[in-house]
Amino acid sequence: MIVQELVEADACLVEEIVALEQAAFGIGGMNHWFLVPFIRHGRVFIACEGDELVGVCEYMLDFRRAGHAYLFGLTVKECWRSRGVGRRLMEESCLALREAGISTVSLTVHPQNSGALRLYEGLGFRRTVFRENEYGTGEDRWEYELDLNRMKE
Ligand SMILES: CC(C)(COP(=O)(O)OP(=O)(O)OC[C@H]1O[C@@H](n2cnc3c(N)ncnc32)[C@H](O)[C@@H]1OP(=O)(O)O)[C@@H](O)C(=O)NCCC(=O)NCCS
Repeated sequence: MIVQELVEADACLVEEIVALEQAAFGIGGMNHWFLVPFIRHGRVFIACEGDELVGVCEYMLDFRRAGHAYLFGLTVKECWRSRGVGRRLMEESCLALREAGISTVSLTVHPQNSGALRLYEGLGFRRTVFRENEYGTGEDRWEYELDLNRMKE
């Protein structure tokens, strides 16, 4: 498996990523209007097995905190889950951010998303804030943060 940054908004890949995200999150997933600016102005990393796209994650820079990035989304194709793709994507993208001078990364996660919680906690992310109704009524989230200089490798 290869993890790489997506630096061009390749139309075929954009379609594949949007399909992957919509399958995982429905309306909460990435669409074309958000993904393209993320590629051009944020940072987007993809995991591929041969020619197949198997996972994606997207980051934005935080204007309120110097050296801080926010993980907007992480998705692994359903048939590829629990095979280490999410961990590899997170590890390699966080290393790339650290090399670019980012020192902390935060994200939000549904309190019942046990797979994601295990992945993030295994990487060293710590819970910071509970955000009730963060994305609308009933859409509570935990906020997590990782100090990239203390990342478990
Ligand atoms: C959450 C998600 C990204 C995890 O990716 P993945 O490739 O399946 O995870 P990995 O195989 O790399 O597993 C990493 C760790 O998480 C654990 N894990 C992953 N999915 C799990 C699950 N469903 N139940 C329990 N543990 C799980 C693994 O056991 C592993 O732990 P370990 O390192 O201690 O062995 C993936 O399941 C996914 O895309 N889910 C739908 C979208 C989503 O919820 N994204 C996160 C939003 S915050």
